[in-house]
Amino acid sequence: MKTSIALIGFMGVGKSAVARVIADKLNKQLVEVDSVIVKKSGKSIIQIFNEGEIAFRELEIQAIKEISEKRNQVISCGGGVVLNKINIDRLKQDSLIIWLTASPRVILKRVRLDKESRPLLKADSKTSDIAELLRFRRPFYERAADLKIDTSKMEIQSVADYILHKLSENEDFSSKK
Ligand code: S3P
Repeated sequence: MKTSIALIGFMGVGKSAVARVIADKLNKQLVEVDSVIVKKSGKSIIQIFNEGEIAFRELEIQAIKEISEKRNQVISCGGGVVLNKINIDRLKQDSLIIWLTASPRVILKRVRLDKESRPLLKADSKTSDIAELLRFRRPFYERAADLKIDTSKMEIQSVADYILHKLSENEDFSSKK
């Protein structure tokens, strides 16, 4: 039986906020992959990206490796975790993978206030830029996901409630610690 869940999806779909609610409800450890990377490297995400995206992806692979060794977690993944298959293979050992989506317009609205900490978005990023990156990434998310939820018209709490309901029906998942 799996004892963890991993939330994947594009920036701004609500992974962190939803993960917080679910972890609290299931009494499991909340893990933010980006925070693990920042803590381990002693650098901000922006600083790491300044050394190149590959440097960031290497740290991300290392962080996922360590996280995957533990159980009973709710893992909020950075938007690009799916780009390296090894990450998904490792997460799948103990996690159900839940893909949160939203329309490019909703994503732009949600990330508007927080673009500075997201090196892949520029101050003048448009809906079409987000749509293009989403189009490229969609097959990666699709391949990884056990469950997909379009959050465009949903509040955080309803997304969390929906996931909790699905988990309670899933025979491969143990909500007990
Ligand atoms: C990234 C998403 C970010 C962060 C980094 C790269 C991506 O995380 O990991 O900026 O490639 O989509 P969030 O999805 O939590 O914003």
